[in-house]
Amino acid sequence: MMSLRFLLLLLLLFQFSVPGILAINNEDPTTKTMEDFSGYPIHEPTDYSFALPNLLLSSVSVDTPTLQNQIDELSTFSDTSSPSVTRILYTEKDVLARRYIKNLMGLSGLSVREDAVGNIFGRWDGYEPDLSAVATGSHIDAIPYSGKYDGVVGVLGAIEAINVLKRSGFKPKRSLEVVLFTSEEPTRFGISCLGSRLLAGSEALAEALKTTVDGQNISFFEAARSAGYAKDQDDISSVFLREGSYSAFVELHIEQGPILEAEGISIGIVTAIAAPASLKVDFEGNGGHAGAVLMPNRNDAGLAAAELALAVEKHVLESGSIDTVGTVGILELHPGAINSIPSKSHVEIDTRDIDEKRRNDVIEKIHQSATTIASKRGVRLSEFKIINQDPPALSDKKVIEAMEAASKELNLTHKLMISRAYHDSLFMARVSPMGMLFIPCYKGYSHKPEEYASSHDMGNGVKVLALTLAKLSLN
Ligand code: GLV
Ligand code: MN
Ligand code: MN
Repeated sequence: MMSLRFLLLLLLLFQFSVPGILAINNEDPTTKTMEDFSGYPIHEPTDYSFALPNLLLSSVSVDTPTLQNQIDELSTFSDTSSPSVTRILYTEKDVLARRYIKNLMGLSGLSVREDAVGNIFGRWDGYEPDLSAVATGSHIDAIPYSGKYDGVVGVLGAIEAINVLKRSGFKPKRSLEVVLFTSEEPTRFGISCLGSRLLAGSEALAEALKTTVDGQNISFFEAARSAGYAKDQDDISSVFLREGSYSAFVELHIEQGPILEAEGISIGIVTAIAAPASLKVDFEGNGGHAGAVLMPNRNDAGLAAAELALAVEKHVLESGSIDTVGTVGILELHPGAINSIPSKSHVEIDTRDIDEKRRNDVIEKIHQSATTIASKRGVRLSEFKIINQDPPALSDKKVIEAMEAASKELNLTHKLMISRAYHDSLFMARVSPMGMLFIPCYKGYSHKPEEYASSHDMGNGVKVLALTLAKLSLN
């Protein structure tokens, strides 16, 4: 009898432990799926497939030739020649491009306003204007020698989505708002998503900007004022969004990766955005004459930087996951003469992962390496600064459902996916339910002049965006 009871107990234990064993086996960090990461789909679906009372699906048509012309025209506001685009925050070209967008917003009948740092808003009042609005938008700044679609598709595409809805006779219940975010790219002041971080209420950033300067020692406020912003105030807390300003935020963007094009899928529905971080490191050595100072007597700050760059690659690879990435995109040597041993070096490191802890472990190892390298080479680690160390963001399930329903109704193939690039949506998710739509781009190219998205794919993206906005506006 005892042994039968024991057998039963064993069977019972085995039954309950099998899923546990499977779960443990599935926890290989290298094969963590999008579903593990984002937690979708594990919810009761909301029905967004309702017919829109004042929108005829057949009347949803995008003026793609005009959209393409606008993209081409905007790309001419650039500090480098075509096909590359370089448009840096608050420069003359940035101001001209902003004027171009404000003009288009006006032509679409939107009421336009700007905040103290130059986030631009174009609003279409709904018939219940006191309800929180539904927002959409992206950025138009472009890193040096990049392309013309990153961000731009989500701004010009958003204005066209409004035009689509207006042409179809749709009347929004909640107001619809197009947002142009200031400086999604960190090029000038070293901080990414400057406008959306502030909209999300980052007091730390508002404070830090008071002492922030660019590479030419121009202060943030001097630059902002030269572009007509931050008038006579250093307090930019007016930019913070009031709680509940938006009931939903949706950003349309090129994928910046190869998946949609390779799989022949029209629409990517983003469920989560990977966690980005950036670091600044400075080494200081004695410098000296490239001929006269013999090798054993050197404290070469340049070699310390080079060694750290290799250490970044090593620590990223050690994570064992394909999802961990690290880049040394800036490495500067002082005085920058061929016959002078570098006395100072400056390294900027970008590292990201869908797993925040794993990314943080990499940052810790980079810090340890910087300390070890400095002591081994007899140089000083004069700065190790974490500029930003952001958590990942999850899309909102209602926004996901609205985007999925819109794609289905338009008969467009779609798939749920992760964004490995960061976007203003990462910060909008802190103050609003958020979702993102991706469209395919040529070979996944981005942040280089070869970046390209077809008019057809942009048209699909704008259609899905328009329908999604319409659904969310009536919700
Ligand atoms: C955005 O431009 C990014 O670097 O992900
Ligand atoms: Mn970019
Ligand atoms: Mn972008």
